[in-house]
Amino acid sequence: MAESMQGLKRSHRCTELSNQNIGETVTVMGWVGRRRNLGSLIFVDLRDRSGILQIIFDEKDVKTEGFAKAETLRNEFVIAVEGRVQKREGAINENLKTGDIEIRATSLRILSEALTPPFPIEDGVAVKDDLRLKYRYLDLRKPRLQRNLKLRSDVTTLVRSFLAEEGFLEIETPMLTKSTPEGARDYLVPSRVHPGNYYALPQSPQLFKQLLMCSGYDRYMQIAKCFRDEDLRADRQPEFTQIDMELSFVDIDDVIDVNERLLAKLWKDILGTEIQTPFRRITWQEAMDRYGSDKPDTRFGMELKDISDLVKTCGFSVFTGAIENGGSVRAINAEGQGNMPRKKIDALAEFAKTYGAKGLAYLAVNEDGTFKSSFAKFMTREELSAIVQRLDGKPGDLLLFAADKNKVVYDVLGALRCELAKNLELQDKDIYHFLWVTEFPLLEYSEEQERYVAMHHPFTMPVEEDLELLDTNPGAVRAKAYDIVLNGTELGGGSVRIHQSDVQEKMFEVLGFTKESAYKRFGFLLNAFKYGVPPHAGLAFGLDRLVMHMAKEDSIRDTIAFPKVKDASCLMTDAPNVVDEKQLEELYLKSTYQEE
Ligand code: AMO
Ligand code: AMP
Repeated sequence: MAESMQGLKRSHRCTELSNQNIGETVTVMGWVGRRRNLGSLIFVDLRDRSGILQIIFDEKDVKTEGFAKAETLRNEFVIAVEGRVQKREGAINENLKTGDIEIRATSLRILSEALTPPFPIEDGVAVKDDLRLKYRYLDLRKPRLQRNLKLRSDVTTLVRSFLAEEGFLEIETPMLTKSTPEGARDYLVPSRVHPGNYYALPQSPQLFKQLLMCSGYDRYMQIAKCFRDEDLRADRQPEFTQIDMELSFVDIDDVIDVNERLLAKLWKDILGTEIQTPFRRITWQEAMDRYGSDKPDTRFGMELKDISDLVKTCGFSVFTGAIENGGSVRAINAEGQGNMPRKKIDALAEFAKTYGAKGLAYLAVNEDGTFKSSFAKFMTREELSAIVQRLDGKPGDLLLFAADKNKVVYDVLGALRCELAKNLELQDKDIYHFLWVTEFPLLEYSEEQERYVAMHHPFTMPVEEDLELLDTNPGAVRAKAYDIVLNGTELGGGSVRIHQSDVQEKMFEVLGFTKESAYKRFGFLLNAFKYGVPPHAGLAFGLDRLVMHMAKEDSIRDTIAFPKVKDASCLMTDAPNVVDEKQLEELYLKSTYQEE
């Protein structure tokens, strides 16, 4: 029977009590965790958001009626207990904040009974993900997730206050809007009032924040929900949150400066960790050449080395062929892995193939200085020695090679580097390597669309010296864009924006937009720019990813209260789902979908 809490008032959260309170009468409320019934004594671990507190029910204190009630308690019942704080009579529990005290109950009310939960409400118990997410409200009771969501709340609170002090105004932008160009597919919302017309949910507040700069707000920030219909991974959700900002009358260094100070403050105030500023900056080209990635994890070495010059005339056609086709041959040195069994090397080759590799050549340097290799027979001793030297190969090392178009070589070795580091446990979560990747290419050639597409978005400013290349060699133009990378994750990104209409028009031309099509899509922004626009720049962090790193989690799911699974559905609410015929009619919609 559920009782009311009338006449009772909670005096403390569980772990707000300590040995300072011994002798006091208190009222605590929460969920029943572990229980032990010793016949004449019943022990209960009471749990709330703050932690765990031991309650002891003794018939002497709680009366026959209270004791009988205590005997009916089951896991996850919600109870209110009045009692006296005392020094713990049994052994002190070092693992609990309240491990040296307990509450001797004088009265008990059962506020809510509970079914047996489908899994124990404890950290560290293996439970299938699907089950956790179906019962997310129970999963969220676990200390680890409670800690993560508290951390997330602390982060947003601090971000708001820090940026307010730096002169940023928090301004909301619409959720029902026109498609904004961030390169993913839009989520659409049909209009009832405008048959056949659709709103798009924002992929980011990009255009609105630029308009706010036109309107003179100078510094804008928002903790913004964003929606992107893209394939999900551990660090991607269809709806996610950005810490979004835009600044007027600034250049790259101003944006970098305020954000380095913001990150340093978050790490110091929330994690108690000093991080060194300024962060290292490397260009996109250097990041690709050395790490095979535009979001390099620099906690470990294994840098890529180009050996194309050493092998362009060798006898191994896999290598020479790749170079003849305009590609390259590059390699990494997995130090000390020379004894890796053939089976494991084959597994790495299979891994490499998932990144587009056609194979993975290898060379192990034996202790006696000889080589074990998949291609040694095609090369001279001198050629092999030169390769080993280029990679600083020592006896006991394993060198791994990719030969292909540059993009494939980068992708393969970039991924392989991280895979090896994972296997060798080189990715220490207590180390934070922040870095800025700068000078991204402005444009990327899309084979699919047979035209250049913006690597970031069409409003990103080219590096001034490269402006003239827009006509002659668009692929070589660098952008005033920057990403903030932490331990191999892209935490955020931004750019200086184009504020000159001639540059913007040129950009649209290169992207293959006619004036009409550009105005059709972005006319409101282009028109606004005709009325006086300040130079401006901005950046957005992925809040979920930021919190993931601060909480030392591997998936952003563990930092989001109600996340979605790989196919973008919510296992708890069963969204997305069918709707009434009538709702569809009102929206002038009819599905063309046919079940197979
Ligand atoms: P961008 O598209 O790089 O830039 O996004 C900024 C940051 O948002 C995070 N992010 C995601 N997090 C979780 N799930 C996703 N699906 C997802 N997609 C992106 C990443 C990323 O670095 N308007 C620009 C910013 C600007 O130029 O000011 C933008 O949205 O951490
Ligand atoms: P093959 O001549 O196909 O038997 O390949 C000889 C070795 O080269 C094997 O170890 C392959 O895995 C490797 N290999 C094949 N294609 C490539 C490539 N594009 N890049 C690197 N190694 C490759």
